[in-house]
Formats: sequence, C-alpha cells, structure tokens
Amino acid sequence: MKVLGIETSCDETAISVVEGESDSVRVIFSDVFSQIEVHAKYGGVIPEQAARLHLEKLAVMLRARGVELAEIDGIAVTAGPGLSPALRVGVEMAKALAYVTGKPLVGVSHMEGHIYANWIEKEAPAFPVLALLVSGGHTELVLMCGHGDYERLGETLDDAVGEAFDKVASMLSLPYPGGPQVAKLAENGNDQAFEFPRGLLDREGYDFSFSGLKTAVLYTLREHDKELADETFRANIAASFQTAVVDTLIEKTRRAIESYDPKTVVIAGGVSANLLLREKMAELVESYGKAFVMPEFKYSLDNAGMIATAGYFHLRTGEKHDPLTLTANPNLDLCAKK
Ligand code: KG4
Ligand code: ZN
Repeated sequence: MKVLGIETSCDETAISVVEGESDSVRVIFSDVFSQIEVHAKYGGVIPEQAARLHLEKLAVMLRARGVELAEIDGIAVTAGPGLSPALRVGVEMAKALAYVTGKPLVGVSHMEGHIYANWIEKEAPAFPVLALLVSGGHTELVLMCGHGDYERLGETLDDAVGEAFDKVASMLSLPYPGGPQVAKLAENGNDQAFEFPRGLLDREGYDFSFSGLKTAVLYTLREHDKELADETFRANIAASFQTAVVDTLIEKTRRAIESYDPKTVVIAGGVSANLLLREKMAELVESYGKAFVMPEFKYSLDNAGMIATAGYFHLRTGEKHDPLTLTANPNLDLCAKK
C-alpha cells in the first residue's frame, strides 16, 4: 500500500510517499523544506508566518516531485498537535486531494508520527513498546501494547525537553533552534562542572519537570556574568545542563522498564537526535536485555515519512476520516480514548 504523507504542524513543510507491506515500511521519498532561516530572525516561530510559508511551498513541493495520485492508495496528514494556522494548511490540502481523487484520508497525531519513525525501514519493534517522546512541545513516556494503542505513563509538568534546550540556548545567545547548538557546545565541556537539579527524581512515578533546571542555569549564568564569553565556561554550562536532562530521562525510563517490562524501548521526537541521549539510552536498555530502537537521524526531526508510516498502520485496518469534515486540532492528544 502506497501512502502520501503531509506534515505542516510547525516550521517544516514536508511531504513523503511510503510503501507499506505487512509490518515493514519503505520510504520512496521524503522531502522537507525547513523555514528555520526565516524564523531564526525572530528567535522563534510566528504561527501565521509559518502558515503562509507552508501555503507557498506545499503545492510546489508536490508538483516538483511529480506525485502520481493515481498510484497512491491513501493520504495521511498531521491533524495535530501543533500550531493551528500551520496545521490547517496541510489538513486542507490533504482533504482537497482526498476529495478530488476519492482516496482514503486519515488524520494522524504528530506525536504518533514521531513514534512510528521507529518503524521506517527497520524490523518492526515488538510489543509492548515503551516510547520516550522528547520534542519541542512534548516530553512523555507512553506504553504501546499494539498499533494505535497508547497509554501515557508520565509527562512533563512544565517545560518540554526541547523547549528547555532552546531556552538554555537563548540564554547563551545561541541561534534558534538551540537544541543541536547546546549539544555541540557540550561536546567540549565538563559535565560535572555545575551541579544542576534533576527534576522530580525524588518523587515516585514517571512525570518530568525541567523548569527548575532551566532556572538554575539562568541563576548560574547571572552569578558568572563576567565569564559569559569564556568558551570553557559556556561549554561546561552546556555539558552540565545536558547531562542533568539526560540523567532525568534515563532514570524515569528505567523505572518504567522495571514496572512495565516492555519488549522494546524506542525514543522519538526531535530531541531523540541527541547523541548523549542515544548513547545512554542504548546502555540502559541493553542492561535490561530489551530491544532498543531509535529513528534514523533524518526521521528524528520533523518529516512526513513518519506521518505516512503512521497513516499506513491506520489505513491498512480500513480506518479513515471524512475529507469534508476532518479538522485540525492543535491540542490533539495521542492518548485520548476514541
Ligand atoms: O520533533 P521536533 O523536530 O519538533 C517538534 O515536534 O517540537 O523537535 C524539535 C526540538 C527542538 O526543541 C530542538 O532544539 C530539539 O528538538 N533538538 C535537539 C537536538 N536536535 C533537535 N535537542 C537536543 N539535542 C539535539 N541534538
Ligand atoms: Zn515534531
């Protein structure tokens, strides 16, 4: 089954066609146009501007790829969560294509897409799957007992991990989006230089908190304002921050492995591109003798291959949405009961 995927939830316009057969998915193409250059000038994403850029690009990208709609078996689009005006561009385009061609349409969750990046061109992860979702807007531990079956074990009570990375980057005057820049700076730093808090580790359960850590970094930078330009000092801040984040993510995942005994652990979302997280998570999961799967780098960040893949697993069961009534939902909850 060939599925066209469309993703416009934030600042990447993305299209993809994947081919699914049984539990395996192959990407025929996955194109991403990043708006980062425009948004970097403003230090963040302005929703209306993102939507305008999606409008300018989406049809052009489809045309440039020469997508043969007659050969497509279904269309999947990110219906949420995300920025409302941005989401609407993709959803309305997908509805129009589905309506005109009569092909089945399915609206999927962006977070579900991130999870399904772990099914792209890989041996299918065995259930139950424990997923650590770490992106710019979400930090969650989700248990998946089968396709489309999600139970949230814990989530952040304040900032998402990616958001904390981006805020620390901005405190260090690094350009948007800051996560990769902080990670790069951390490479030459001493992660023991500063003792930053590990949120909620003293509390039972699987929830996260990163606002205390963010504030601790801010206060440390204020105390050391004369060293702000010193590269060693900056690298030490970045490394100590990154290690505090990763320690927290690892410890909560360890608790969930102990309690739920999954067969597979996956990481998903933009922050799953973080090398320290990948390395520490691989060590943790292997120490429990479980399978560990992480997305290829190009499918860690926002893309439409993951949306088409999630769509394939819905469409193959016959599930579909009405192309006249599907609506974008900026607060779409992956774990909401249907
Ligand atoms: O999933 P994503 O591309 O967009 C959302 O759905 O939010 O995630 C973007 C987030 C940003 O906060 C970005 O700074 C962060 O992922 N990120 C990273 C890395 N690469 C991207 N954070 C830490 N280390 C990285 N290597
Ligand atoms: Zn994302």
